[in-house]
Amino acid sequence: MTSKETADLPGLFLTFEGIDGSGKSTQCKLLAEALRFAGKEVVLTREPGGSPGAEEIRRIVLEGDPDKWSAETEILLFTAARRDHLERTILPALKAGKVVICDRFADSTRMYQGLSRGDLRQTVDQLHDLMIQREPDLTLLIDMDPETGLSRAKGRQGREERFEDFGLGLQQQMRAGFLSLAQEFNKRFRVIDGTQPIDKVAAKVLAVAQDELSIRSGEPQ
Ligand code: ADP
Ligand code: TYD
Repeated sequence: MTSKETADLPGLFLTFEGIDGSGKSTQCKLLAEALRFAGKEVVLTREPGGSPGAEEIRRIVLEGDPDKWSAETEILLFTAARRDHLERTILPALKAGKVVICDRFADSTRMYQGLSRGDLRQTVDQLHDLMIQREPDLTLLIDMDPETGLSRAKGRQGREERFEDFGLGLQQQMRAGFLSLAQEFNKRFRVIDGTQPIDKVAAKVLAVAQDELSIRSGEPQ
């Protein structure tokens, strides 16, 4: 799997990023429905997870004590999950010309493991270059204040709370980090205001995705 082979595939690879509780999962589902309604073949997937092997890794990384692993060990685990997800789910769908919508991807590792416990961004990027290579065609950053995000996320009440248990300080750092990542990769990032009602955010998300699809198909906008 060379970077050339993974870059020139006919499908479209869209990712959603943002802090916990910003509305990514909600918006991924709504966008998948809207694009299917418009006649596109869509694969809706998520990270960590998205393939049977990666879902197994998800179970161990998202549950339990917040400091059960160092950030370095987590980089390896998230990248292992991503490699399996890419091989088994994402690349086959892109090869078949489908739209892949993924709830979080490598930008989350750049933030959560690369920033939260010391500066490990270079390690994340090195492992990404070695094992993943592929970047999304378009990344939608759902931006919002961390207090609201955390209260929405806590309202869900699940067992996958390891990262939410790092608390508000982590979410604030992640929000600032995602906004600066959006500037660093400004060609593929679009920042969307996540504080609006669900249908307003969904309309904006759909408009951005459709713009990208029409640019790719060479249609006038
Ligand atoms: P994420 O995947 O980013 O963690 P979710 O999509 O799971 O976020 O949303 C977290 C919670 O907030 C859910 O209960 C969801 O229904 C609610 N929610 C999502 N978007 C909005 C919004 N724009 N306004 C109000 N509540 C929202
Ligand atoms: P997710 O299920 O998207 O949580 P949420 O819906 O609350 O946003 O992701 C679970 C957690 O995994 C989230 O707190 C961020 C973390 N995560 C990482 O730390 N590194 C990664 O590479 C990924 C993909 C997620």
